[in-house]
Amino acid sequence: MIQSNNSPATTQQSTKSNKEPVTTNIEWLNRAYSADGLPALRSLYDEWAASYDSDLSKSDQNYVAPALSAATVAKYAGNPAALKILDAGCGTGLVGAALANLGSKQIDGVDLSQGMLDVARKTNAYSVLETADLSKPLEKETDSYDVVTCIGTLTHAHVGPEVLSEFVRVVRKDGWIIATVLDDIWEPVGYRAEIDKLVASKKAELVSADSGDYRKGAGVSARMVVLKVLA
Ligand SMILES: C[S@@+](CC[C@H](N)C(=O)[O-])C[C@H]1O[C@@H](n2cnc3c(N)ncnc32)[C@H](O)[C@@H]1O
Repeated sequence: MIQSNNSPATTQQSTKSNKEPVTTNIEWLNRAYSADGLPALRSLYDEWAASYDSDLSKSDQNYVAPALSAATVAKYAGNPAALKILDAGCGTGLVGAALANLGSKQIDGVDLSQGMLDVARKTNAYSVLETADLSKPLEKETDSYDVVTCIGTLTHAHVGPEVLSEFVRVVRKDGWIIATVLDDIWEPVGYRAEIDKLVASKKAELVSADSGDYRKGAGVSARMVVLKVLA
């Protein structure tokens, strides 16, 4: 069975022929998507940090979202070298590294897991790396960033839609929020509805939320949300 949806807690297997099943290395992800509370999620990522990048870069995952998100920042927000960026849920720094490749020099990263931040530090892409829980108000000044990126973190058992209004607060007027949301939770978990509220209250404009490749090797797709902050 080739599983192409985004459901948690199911081991993905590619069995091109019944004789030669290829089990993908996705057990960590399944555990993350079904984590029971913040402490469990934090410990899981602390443990996973050492192998996270290599696990997700394997061809049966081919996690393309970080590179695509960096290109999306450049497309909408302009020259990455001129932007002050907050990478929310930065993990091991895949997004920061992709942005740095495009010239970014001012990236701050926050994440729940110190283990993930320790790996992110080695990318040298970030000016500041701090632990933070995105389910609480961010300890960041209002209007202090040109862009917030949040890739792979608005997902099953991680961070809910409420954080979007905090992102709007910390981004300056006419700045940008670039975030991924898995297709299968875009509406059911309320991300779409939260964005509709931000749009209705004229705090943000939804410029794009196209579905595209995410973990391309596993056939998993996500929305690439592009929000322009209006106030
Ligand atoms: C799938 S990883 C994505 C990391 C990185 N953005 C990337 O694209 O590789 C999800 C990240 O979200 C972080 N995370 C989960 N819940 C969080 C929370 N409540 N506050 C901050 N970070 C959180 C995890 O520690 C983990 O590093």
